Amino acid sequence: MARAKQSSSERSQDAIALLKADHRQVEEWFEQFEKARTEDRKQDLATRICDALKVHTTIEEEIFYPAFLEATDDTDLHHEAEVEHNGAKKLIAEIEASSPDDEYFDAKMKVLSEMIKHHVKEEEQPGGMFSEARDSDMDLKALGEQLAERKAELEGGAMDDDDLPPPGGRRERSQPGRMSKSAR
Ligand SMILES: [Fe+2]
Ligand SMILES: [Fe+2]
Repeated sequence: MARAKQSSSERSQDAIALLKADHRQVEEWFEQFEKARTEDRKQDLATRICDALKVHTTIEEEIFYPAFLEATDDTDLHHEAEVEHNGAKKLIAEIEASSPDDEYFDAKMKVLSEMIKHHVKEEEQPGGMFSEARDSDMDLKALGEQLAERKAELEGGAMDDDDLPPPGGRRERSQPGRMSKSAR
C-alpha cells in the first residue's frame, strides 16, 4: 500500500492542510500497528511510521516552525514543539536500531504513538500552533508549496540520518519560510 506520489492538487494544499494530512496518515498506521500480528507486518508499519515522521518533523523544523516563530514571536509554543520533536527523534532512532523480535519493540512503538498523539494535539488544538498560525499573517499557501516541495525531495531520496537536522538545531537553509512582503 505505497503512498501515491503527490498529485498536483496535493501540492496546492495550504501548509496546515498538508501537515494535518500527514498527522492523519501516521495515526492510521499506528492503529494498524496495534492490530498487526506478524513481525513482518509490524516491521513494515514501523518503517513507514518512522520514515514519515522523519520527513514530517524535518519539513516542520526547516520551513513551518521558523515561519511561525517569525510571524508570531511565540517562543513558548515554538520551543516546546522542537523539544517534543527531539524526544520523538531519539525514540525513532531506537526503534530503527531495533526490530519486532526485540522484547521492547512494541513498548517503544506504543510510547512513540503516545508522544506523537500528545504533540499532534498541541499543534492542532484551539490556541495551539496551527490556530495561531491561521490568525497570523503567515502565507500558508506559499508555505504549503514549500513544504510539499521539500517533502517530495526528502521522500525521493531514501532519507538517512545525515539528512536530519542535528538535535536541538535546524540545518541552515536560506531563510526558510520567509516571504517577501510582496508575497503576503
Ligand atoms: Fe506536525
Ligand atoms: Fe510537530
